[in-house]
Amino acid sequence: MTEDIAFFDLIQRPRRNRRSPAIRKMVREHRLSPDHLVLPLFLRDGTDIQDPIHSMPGYFRLSIDHIVREAKEAVALGIPAIALFPLIDDAKKDPRATESLNPDGLLPRCIRALKDQVPDIAVITDVAMDPYSSDGHDGYVERGRILNDVTLEILAQMAVNQAKAGADIVAPSDMMDGRVGAIRSALDIEGFTDTGILAYSAKYASAFYGPFRDALDSAPRAGDKKTYQMDPANLREALREVLLDIEEGADMVMVKPALAYLDVIAAVRQIVDVPVAAYHVSGEFAMLKAAAERGWLNLEAAMMETTLAIHRAGASILLTYFAKDIARILTR
Ligand code: PBG
Repeated sequence: MTEDIAFFDLIQRPRRNRRSPAIRKMVREHRLSPDHLVLPLFLRDGTDIQDPIHSMPGYFRLSIDHIVREAKEAVALGIPAIALFPLIDDAKKDPRATESLNPDGLLPRCIRALKDQVPDIAVITDVAMDPYSSDGHDGYVERGRILNDVTLEILAQMAVNQAKAGADIVAPSDMMDGRVGAIRSALDIEGFTDTGILAYSAKYASAFYGPFRDALDSAPRAGDKKTYQMDPANLREALREVLLDIEEGADMVMVKPALAYLDVIAAVRQIVDVPVAAYHVSGEFAMLKAAAERGWLNLEAAMMETTLAIHRAGASILLTYFAKDIARILTR
């Protein structure tokens, strides 16, 4: 064996800490665990339906029976929570998202089935008008303008409807001003003081939501979301949004998207004392899938590296379409 002869007086050799798998394991600073993962699921009407989402290979819109099966699998893999997103029939959409207040709507029925059949999973629900709105916006639209305070009333009632069905945590993803406070007081008045709020606090007007909007047919029918979702150029504004949401009663705050906003996650982590979540969104998922399908990336390695990076940046809760794949790798 050739010895590495020391020609230089090198005292500091960081490579010593990387010599072997055992040493690398000893000095590892961050570790992923299924405990950190939340599995987002797309829900649709019907029975025994698994409807593929074209721009999200391997992902489906699922009928309630399959959602229940997925939730059981998630529990078995050690994943603590799922986040539900319903696909609503076009015929049920209107400008006020009225269907979101229906106690027997698709989402409430699904929540009840989950509470009944998979009591160990935490159920997180999306509070936003877009899947139910004929305008495809997260707020009430009047003559092309998104009206903030009219929207708050709808969001508050929507959250109460979800809490009544059994949602553990409601997650407003709309970016209206004051929605966390409006939702908190509506929940409390109705007696749902234990229902948590995960606020999508720093949600950016991002190009990476495309596949999600395909999945739910929820793209804006006119205009864009830039008067409510944040400008990707802004970091300080994210901190303002986060602090406002906490003041209004948010139990957890979220940054979204994740990978393109690691600096935001890190900055938020520095200034808050509530759990920080990040959403590795549909477009970020699709990019990895597409490159892997072409043989340009090793999917497993790229997925683990990406997820670890989001965790290292400061997110202890990770919403990711890879949740089951990651948990499987971590538990094998
Ligand atoms: C809707 C909502 C969106 C996402 C989560 N909730 C889309 C949007 O704001 O247009 C995106 C999630 C993803 O892309 O994975 N309020």
